[in-house]
Amino acid sequence: MDDTRRSVIRLSSRNRLPGGNIPPPSPYNLLVPPIAQPGHTENLTVALTGASGILFGQMLLRALDADPRVARIHFVPSENSLRVLAEELGISGRTNLAEKLLGQPSAKIVQHSENDVGAAIASGSYPSSGMIVLPCSMGTLAGIANGIAGNLIERAADVCLKERRPLILCLRETPFNKIHIRNMGLAADAGATIFPIIPAFYNQPADSTEMARQFVFRVLAHIGLPQPGAYVWKPDQLSS
Ligand SMILES: Cc1cc2nc3c(=O)[nH]c(=O)nc-3n(C[C@H](O)[C@H](O)[C@H](O)COP(=O)(O)O)c2cc1C
Repeated sequence: MDDTRRSVIRLSSRNRLPGGNIPPPSPYNLLVPPIAQPGHTENLTVALTGASGILFGQMLLRALDADPRVARIHFVPSENSLRVLAEELGISGRTNLAEKLLGQPSAKIVQHSENDVGAAIASGSYPSSGMIVLPCSMGTLAGIANGIAGNLIERAADVCLKERRPLILCLRETPFNKIHIRNMGLAADAGATIFPIIPAFYNQPADSTEMARQFVFRVLAHIGLPQPGAYVWKPDQLSS
């Protein structure tokens, strides 16, 4: 028996239930691995799309830029996010966008056009640690959930799914129609984390900036990058 056949048999017998059936793959077994490993620097992709809540994306870029565990941020604003940036934050133009969002230049942020499907993050051979889309429009969700890969955001997300890398989709819409809900299910089944922009209120945020900051801290804690200043419910009950 050749080695390939032997390994196939080993694999299938390991997956066999006592009753003899191979369990169907469960999407819920595709747990998102924490990105951060001790001593390892992260190489993350951040996409902003044309959904409301661009402030949340701005807070994400600021937190990642300030985080010494993050070495490189590939930043992809969609063409339609530019319109929302102008409407919600009064920021116009596509050049030096990261600098405008941070209020200072960044040595680690590389900005890409959504049309640049030849960027490094479009290939699975490039060692990206994962991707966060914040905010994520229903249009981009549809493109990702259905494997369209029609622009760099959809393609980089597609690469994360096929390489089993973390993909966090911070959706924003209300109410949802059945198509949105179906696409959320498809994306989740393929391994994405649906992390809608539903901020917390129990921390009594003083303003929308603090609300967005704390939401971003939850996203980053979820991928293994816990942040100083993150609100913890009942911190006295943390084990020392
Ligand atoms: C001010 C503004 C707010 C919008 N808010 C949302 C939103 O919250 N969710 C959404 O899915 N689309 C929203 N849209 C519509 C999207 O921008 C539009 O569907 C666009 O095609 C999304 O493209 P993109 O995913 O390539 O960025 C908004 C548009 C504007 C101008």
